[in-house]
Amino acid sequence: MPATAIVGAQFGDEGKGRIVDYLARGAAMVVRFQGGSNAGHTVVNEFGTFKLHGIPSGIFFPDTRNVIGSGCVVNPETLQEEIEDLEARGVSTDNLWISSRAHMLMPYHREADGLEEEMRSGDQKIGTTRQGIGPAYSDKTAREGLRMGDLLNSSWLEVRLESAVARANRYRQSMGAAPVDPDRMMDMCDRARTALADRIVDTVPMMKEVLNADSHILLEGQLGVMRDLDWGIYPFVTSSNPTSAFAAAGAGLPIQAIRRVVGVAKAYNTAVGTGPMPAELHDENGARLREIGHEYGATTGRPRRCGWLDLVGLRYAAWVNGMTELCMTKLDVLDGFKTVRVCTGYRMPDGRVERDSVPAAADLAEITPIMESFPGWEEDTTGCRSFDELPRNAREYVTWIADRVGIPIPYIGVGPAREQMVVNPGD
Ligand code: GDP
Ligand code: IMO
Ligand code: MG
Repeated sequence: MPATAIVGAQFGDEGKGRIVDYLARGAAMVVRFQGGSNAGHTVVNEFGTFKLHGIPSGIFFPDTRNVIGSGCVVNPETLQEEIEDLEARGVSTDNLWISSRAHMLMPYHREADGLEEEMRSGDQKIGTTRQGIGPAYSDKTAREGLRMGDLLNSSWLEVRLESAVARANRYRQSMGAAPVDPDRMMDMCDRARTALADRIVDTVPMMKEVLNADSHILLEGQLGVMRDLDWGIYPFVTSSNPTSAFAAAGAGLPIQAIRRVVGVAKAYNTAVGTGPMPAELHDENGARLREIGHEYGATTGRPRRCGWLDLVGLRYAAWVNGMTELCMTKLDVLDGFKTVRVCTGYRMPDGRVERDSVPAAADLAEITPIMESFPGWEEDTTGCRSFDELPRNAREYVTWIADRVGIPIPYIGVGPAREQMVVNPGD
């Protein structure tokens, strides 16, 4: 049975969490394959409203194994808080597992994230979530990271920690920051071991078992293609790859196991953090999208930048990810608009028009968006459950986007709750 990757097709916050929660019923496993607690994946279901930061969004199904994959960085302290919060609200976390190969995000990574951001000047600031993501992945690639499995081997951990702290302190000295106390770090590791050791596993046998049984696996991405380390608007990106090609590596399964790639996109566009954003609105429409769509970051509470849908970005996202289908969320947010607009091309400074591919950040900042207008529907869609129930103009909007992107849109979100989903059987 195939694995399905669920990836962000825009700048993050597309509604991946709610789509994973929707599709997870009956799945044997849900794996988060990259990122860390920079994620804020909102799920609204019978248990309440949740903002998941590190825990996969399949956690509400007790028979589904939820795995934090090797491609992730794990902050043991925030993970413990998340586990406690879920348990206190009646959600069992007995089926939550952590790959022994996932890296550990240390307190000094968080501090370094803040220090680095302070050092960046003006328009080079990234506006990170300050969760320590960049420094944790830097240590991973520098081969100075600590892995969750290291917690299970005391003598190995001691040696690794000494080396990691020495590196952190070389950096801190250069920044004029006080050195990290290795004993405090060891205490933190001891607490993490006590709290999490039983969940730390080699995921390979688990993955083989599920694949051999032909069961369904969901691979949950964090963020979206525009913040991908390679394919996003570098340097205004995160430090991992949210695109589907990394899903196999970050979850730990053979690449052939992935048969479906579901992109998630809002019916419009939002971003938190800096960098160029085509079709960004600085007017009353942008403010309306923000208020109606409650566009404030789930992790940082920052107001999200809002804009009309960027079709060029979406076509690029579909190609880079090999998307087989698209889920469109937040169609209901457009309900009150008389006119809906879409960016269908980028006019480059030399006059050329780009319709398929997103250029590098420096060039993207120079484009002029080519906009097309669509008549709005000015009707409430939040109660719609089938495609036929949607107002005609809304159906035409969705169908037009599916045609232009060249893939079906089988699910359309018309509200944040699990059941507020329009299922579109297509032609
Ligand atoms: P993620 O990071 O991709 O999981 O997305 P976030 O949870 O950060 O942001 C999506 C926001 O939109 C959350 O507040 C969701 O509750 C909300 N949301 C998701 N789908 C819909 C939808 O179809 N309609 C409305 N109105 N809200 C939605
Ligand atoms: P989910 O999974 C939206 C943005 C930050 C910044 C850049 C790098 O909920 O979609 P980082 O902390 O990763 O070093 O920040 O990426 N960013 C997000 N934007 N949703 C997220 O997660 C994000 N995680 C990071 O604002 O621009
Ligand atoms: Mg989010």
